[in-house]
Amino acid sequence: MRTNKVISLSQFIADQQNKFPDANGDLSKIFRDIKFAAKIVNRDVRKAGLVDILGAFGTVNVQGEDVKKLDIIANEEFKSSLTLGGDCCAIISEEEENIHHIETTLNKDSKYIIAIDPLDGSSNIDVNASIGTIFSVYKRKSPIGGPVTMDDVLQKGVNQVAAGYIIYGSSTMLVFTTGQGVNAFTLDSSIGDFCLSHPNIKIPTDGNIYSVNEGNYDQFEQSTKNYIDYCRNSMDKKPYSARYIGSMVADFHRNLLKGGIFIYPSTKDSPNGKLRLMFESNPMAFITEQAGGIATTGDTRILELEPTEIHQRNPVIMGSSNMVRKAVSFR
Ligand code: AHG
Ligand code: MN
Ligand code: MN
Repeated sequence: MRTNKVISLSQFIADQQNKFPDANGDLSKIFRDIKFAAKIVNRDVRKAGLVDILGAFGTVNVQGEDVKKLDIIANEEFKSSLTLGGDCCAIISEEEENIHHIETTLNKDSKYIIAIDPLDGSSNIDVNASIGTIFSVYKRKSPIGGPVTMDDVLQKGVNQVAAGYIIYGSSTMLVFTTGQGVNAFTLDSSIGDFCLSHPNIKIPTDGNIYSVNEGNYDQFEQSTKNYIDYCRNSMDKKPYSARYIGSMVADFHRNLLKGGIFIYPSTKDSPNGKLRLMFESNPMAFITEQAGGIATTGDTRILELEPTEIHQRNPVIMGSSNMVRKAVSFR
């Protein structure tokens, strides 16, 4: 569906403001800050092949300066924008071991906590394939003004106030939910703003794309192998297509628009899989459900998982509802 008039992200958020549970404008300021950092990271991603921001962190460029990897740069940009904005009291990041407390006068009186994977799909940076940023917004539980605790940070996915991702692909898009459906905005670089391009996205109930790293097949549980065998040989209809780039954001985004299933299962070596609950699974699960899909570990609804540590991992099966139901039926 297309709209005739252009609606910017800021306009959209302002229009939605009174539908937010706490309509005091703070959440729109968080989006303002995320949008700003996203534009900076987008700029860096777009020139990644031209300047020394590729390569491993810790290496030295021709000028003898330290090279910062794009994930580190992205982490710094999001932290900086959220700090300067003043509406976020703490950040947890895939790039940092512990809680990043923000204790400036403005920030310590704010109620929002951000969980962020600043650069997702980092193995694709050097080969010019799509990468992304994933974020979640939570409200702290403890009283405003005091120290942010582990309890504030380790909340179940059902408590997310908002979640989204930015995909730096053939175009740059911001896809998000505040619990009222999923909307996507495409960056129009000529005006420097994100414009509503995909209102009220619903993931197709069925699809024919399965996304899983089949190179790990021998490592999978028998039920996962059986489902993959089913996808390879399905007699129900045209066999499924395998599509897997290794950037969750890109694999997820394709399946969201076209219908499909994304799987990162447990393996013999990693019984909890690879993806991180706070940075990848929860935000994508929130978006999946808001788009009408299902997100599960195979046993449990992802949004109901109880986090016990910042970097914990969990198996993921998410996407078109009929496909996920079918995959789970093999267990
Ligand atoms: P990150 O770049 O943030 O570390 O995340 C990479 C993740 C995810 O984006 C992707 O789905 C998965 O790793 C790919 O893992 P495999 O290479 O094991 O398939
Ligand atoms: Mn990631
Ligand atoms: Mn990452």
